[in-house]
Amino acid sequence: DEDPRIHGIRTKIRVVPNFPKPGIMFQDITTLLLDPKAFKDTIDLFVERYKGKNISVVAGIEARGFIFGPPIALAIGAKFVPMRKPKKLPGKVISQDYTLEYGRDRMEMHVGAVEAGDRALVVDDLIATGGTLCAAMDLLERVGAEVVECACVIELPELKGREKLNGKPLYVLLEYY
Ligand code: PRP
Repeated sequence: DEDPRIHGIRTKIRVVPNFPKPGIMFQDITTLLLDPKAFKDTIDLFVERYKGKNISVVAGIEARGFIFGPPIALAIGAKFVPMRKPKKLPGKVISQDYTLEYGRDRMEMHVGAVEAGDRALVVDDLIATGGTLCAAMDLLERVGAEVVECACVIELPELKGREKLNGKPLYVLLEYY
């Protein structure tokens, strides 16, 4: 019952052992981007799911949410808003601190880019612990948007990030164990 396009997408993602640290199996989506068919299939699967759902904003997470988010936003007629690392955005921002596996980080969003009543889709390449998606959802909800769903290409189910999303739906194309 799996969409036949998903197998092709999976074969194009390169797994790099011990990057960026020993023990990490890095999921490299740059090899997916080299294959126009597999890249298009990836975008199409998301667009087929979200078109007609009245999504008004696609929030893309730095850095790889900036690759998958914009083509989805254009195809469904939503605005695109970048969720950035600290001190990158020139306008007034709201920020959200969050914990990583080791240490802390901060995510920022322009004030006024998302408004109360906006219906948001959060896009990233991968969910690991779920902390990054949580921070993005917090920012969107703080300005009164409704997060409809989070969407990633890859989920690492063993890290149980899905359980951190407070019941918010998460849609992924493939799992990596
Ligand atoms: C990766 C990935 C997600 C995040 C997921 O980004 O692209 O954004 O980690 O991790 P989490 O679910 O445990 O929060 P990375 O830290 O590599 O940053 P980058 O995209 O800026 O390289």
